[in-house]
Amino acid sequence: MSWFPERNNQTWLQKMCAGILKAGPIPKHVAFIMDGNRRFATKNSMDRAQGHLQGFNKLAETLEWCLDLGISEVTVYAFSIENFKRSKDEVDCLMELARQKFSKLLHEKEMIEKHGICIRVLGQLTLLPQDIQETIAEAVCFTKHNTRAILNVCFAYTARDDICTSMREMTNGVKQGIIKQSDINEELLEKCLYTSQCRKVDLLIRTSGEVRLSDFLLWESAYTCLAFVKVLWPEFSIWHLYAAVLHYQRNSQAVEVARQNNQIERERLQRESDHKCILEELEEQMQIKGDKSRDTSNIQSKVAQYAKIRNHRVQCFVDGLNRRRAQYFEKLTCNHS
Ligand code: FPP
Ligand code: MG
Repeated sequence: MSWFPERNNQTWLQKMCAGILKAGPIPKHVAFIMDGNRRFATKNSMDRAQGHLQGFNKLAETLEWCLDLGISEVTVYAFSIENFKRSKDEVDCLMELARQKFSKLLHEKEMIEKHGICIRVLGQLTLLPQDIQETIAEAVCFTKHNTRAILNVCFAYTARDDICTSMREMTNGVKQGIIKQSDINEELLEKCLYTSQCRKVDLLIRTSGEVRLSDFLLWESAYTCLAFVKVLWPEFSIWHLYAAVLHYQRNSQAVEVARQNNQIERERLQRESDHKCILEELEEQMQIKGDKSRDTSNIQSKVAQYAKIRNHRVQCFVDGLNRRRAQYFEKLTCNHS
């Protein structure tokens, strides 16, 4: 099955319910933990490969429902770093599925362009076979300018690995003198995550009745509405999606208030940190000049000037990181063609 089948075969009742839902706030970014493929296979006397294929087909269907509802960004947990510990047979089967489906995507360029879909693949891609890395890079590069809808596929991903990678990038930046240790904060950590280009996750849906996050979007889901659905992923239906969106609508205001409070707190902490840094600089200058007291005149304008320079320093660091990450994909596409 194609990634974006154009069936549009919803019943009048489904269309009517979508219309009613659209009168309320629609989550702009929805994430899915597509769990339960193997249990589905067992339940239906199929082999595991078939279960995962049904899982992919369900993903394609779900993307269509999301587009129809006006959900412009979707993130899916397609393969966790932990999944490498599964039997060789199963890992090979999931890799083969990825190989086939990402290759198929390259044959659907026209349709992807028509819908303006941007595909990002997030995770430690170097853990994947070289040919899959190259196919993924090709898909990422040819869709990167599209903006109407975004699909983030988390592959060879765990949230804790992402956070550790981000921390490593920041400490390297400090070591190389590009940023200062005092520049490290929540905002910068976020900008170094694989998900840095994504909008805030509004709703996270996990199927199969498990009620945990299994190392998926741990940082990003701090202020996210969570929905746990009992059915196995291949059994997920448009009605489950509608119910989850309704659950979001009932809770979105509380989530928004919590986000705003977090933003206010971040800004306060940033002002406090800038102020502290300026005082430390003045202290240093005092010691160099041998003055007896700190020159604290115009402290507010000094803090403002410091914040401007800090912003510029941090932006240069983040731009450099993004450039390196983009180059990784570009280099792979040279190998592929
Ligand atoms: C979890 O079910 C599912 C996975 C580990 C794989 C998910 C992958 C897909 C749906 C296909 C996506 C493919 C591409 C190319 C994007 P499980 O295996 O943990 O099943 P269980 O919970 O019943 O054991
Ligand atoms: Mg599972």
